Amino acid sequence: MPFGVPRERRLHSDRVPAIPDSSEIERAAAVLRAGGLVAFPTETVYGLGADASNPAAVAKIFAAKGRPQDHPVIVHLAGIELLPLWAGEIPAGAHQLAAAFWPGPLTLILKRAPGVPDCVTGGQDTVGLRIPGHPVALELLQVFAGEEGGRRFSGVAAPSANKFGRISPTTAEHVRAELGAAVDVVLDGGDCAVGIESTIVDLSRGRAVLLRPGQITPAQIAAVLGAEVDPPDAAAPRISGTLDSHYAPRTPLHLVSAAELPAKLAALRGKRFAVLARAAAPSRLKDVHWHTAPRAVEGYAHELYASLRRLDDLGCDAILVEAPPAAAEWQGVNDRLRRAASN
Ligand code: TXA
Ligand code: MG
Repeated sequence: MPFGVPRERRLHSDRVPAIPDSSEIERAAAVLRAGGLVAFPTETVYGLGADASNPAAVAKIFAAKGRPQDHPVIVHLAGIELLPLWAGEIPAGAHQLAAAFWPGPLTLILKRAPGVPDCVTGGQDTVGLRIPGHPVALELLQVFAGEEGGRRFSGVAAPSANKFGRISPTTAEHVRAELGAAVDVVLDGGDCAVGIESTIVDLSRGRAVLLRPGQITPAQIAAVLGAEVDPPDAAAPRISGTLDSHYAPRTPLHLVSAAELPAKLAALRGKRFAVLARAAAPSRLKDVHWHTAPRAVEGYAHELYASLRRLDDLGCDAILVEAPPAAAEWQGVNDRLRRAASN
């Protein structure tokens, strides 16, 4: 069952994306098989893809992103039948979560299969795996998978298609602006529906551990597993998305509670600043760059990165973000905002 994403969404722009046709996707798959880089839409954020079994191709991802070489990357698959090629142990919980949430915004960390290259695992004994829910991503992965010239193609390594530490792209335009000539093909599949990166659950250590919160909540995962999901501990594997400063705009970002906002605004009088809040702008603040975000979490997450990019581009002295609710379904959004604020 595909993971449902709400249908009613405010789009980043009124632009109607030209969804790539089959020949464009076939060309992109051929570029991947030949060791090139293809940026592609997923339902979470755009990914920067390379053939996961080709270390030279994966090295190009790290070079384009400016990412440290020892960070593992998620391997994207077209279907569950490809899982045993990448995972050495598939616990019952992995089958349950896959059935409930794939294709969708969930990444599973599993013990790696023999032969999985170090370049995608960061030299660890585990591998991150995901079947994404975007139709363009799925078609690309399906066309890519297969045999050619005595070689077997099955997985596409893809981190988010941004420079290391920066905001993940949720439109093809963001990818082109940030990575430009470093990418051989950018497939445009429109705005990413979810808007923040996948939930990451580690199942490699005999229990479920949440490594990165996302749209799929620990409660949803626990309901499927019939067991609690633990927070990360000191033994958790390295994960770049959990660095204190990540997902960050260049402009200093301050996360303030709704109650503190008026005082903070007063303190910043005379400075150029932008505000991202669910509340509407007070009428006396007509000349402030105020962006009103959707009230519900799905819409808020969907627009978050595009809004941060737009506010960052204004070149203000600061971006003030009104802290969203602390409720469980906001955990993914709050996690990204906290890291964006620690620059
Ligand atoms: O939604 C997403 O997950 C997007 C789309 C493109 O699929 N991808 C994404 O990739 O966010 P990236 O590389 O930006 O973040 C993946 C995170 C990284 O923090 C990485 O350290 C972690 O997953 N990761 C990958 N493999 C891992 C492993 N074997 N053990 C622990 N963490 C892992
Ligand atoms: Mg990333």
